[in-house]
Amino acid sequence: MGYPMTKQPFRARIADNSFTYDHIYNPDEAAVKFYTQLASRHGHSILDLGCGSGYLTIPLAKQGLKVTGLDISPSMLDIAVTKSQAAGVKIGWIEENFIDFNLKQQFDMIIMSGCTLQYIENIDQIEQCLERVKKHLKPKGVFVFDIYNPSLPLLCRDPEERYYVTSYIDAFNREVTVEENNIYDTVTQINHITWYYSVDDTPDYKVDVLKMRQFFPQEIRHILKKNGWTIDHCFGDFNGNRFSSDSPRQIFMVKTGKKSKWPRVRNG
Ligand SMILES: C[S@@+](CC[C@H](N)C(=O)[O-])C[C@H]1O[C@@H](n2cnc3c(N)ncnc32)[C@H](O)[C@@H]1O
Repeated sequence: MGYPMTKQPFRARIADNSFTYDHIYNPDEAAVKFYTQLASRHGHSILDLGCGSGYLTIPLAKQGLKVTGLDISPSMLDIAVTKSQAAGVKIGWIEENFIDFNLKQQFDMIIMSGCTLQYIENIDQIEQCLERVKKHLKPKGVFVFDIYNPSLPLLCRDPEERYYVTSYIDAFNREVTVEENNIYDTVTQINHITWYYSVDDTPDYKVDVLKMRQFFPQEIRHILKKNGWTIDHCFGDFNGNRFSSDSPRQIFMVKTGKKSKWPRVRNG
């Protein structure tokens, strides 16, 4: 079982490469719709962790929600500020590390979109981040995040092979082709990805390396439970389908309180 590799969106695989990120990414309308609908249902104040260039933060603010975007990358935030000014929305932008942030306020909803949790490499830091999220959530608040459903065919690809990712026209009007290869380390569960950018006369004129930790479905459930989270929903895609073996993503909606209890039906 598994989903086709070609269906994997590439947006979330780019770490801090602000220029490339906005240059080549085609917005995922389903993701924007999914998060904005949830946000309008779940509260007024939203914290977007690892907000990047404001891909979701800005649509959320356009809905009249009170939004804060936090990211470690100044260049991503520069783009986000410019875009939010052009869109005429007010957003609180914060340059911080989501592993140890302390904003001294709580939110109705915290989101971490675009597989951002996968940029945290070790388990201690993942737990630290989850603790920080908990501290910043209101008692009835929800934390929503998406990660990939690990694709074994993709992780086990031949590292010597290169695969086409995308092509785009850059600021110098050149057609840039992007290819990738990857090596998956089964000990650390980190997928080491290399992106190769080429133009006609200069192959590989730029090379980016990024790491994405893989979370297997039973593992992430255990991590959440161990750290005091209750899973309300796990969707398998942004159309709201239930998570299954073939799903491209694991999209969790979790909270700190207990799951609602239903009255037991007694016979007789
Ligand atoms: C894949 S992008 C996702 C951006 C956005 N959430 C989206 O859906 O388009 C991951 C973002 O996480 C940010 N990031 C990575 N590590 C971080 C950290 N330790 N603290 C805060 N932001 C971080 C990167 O700078 C980048 O903007």
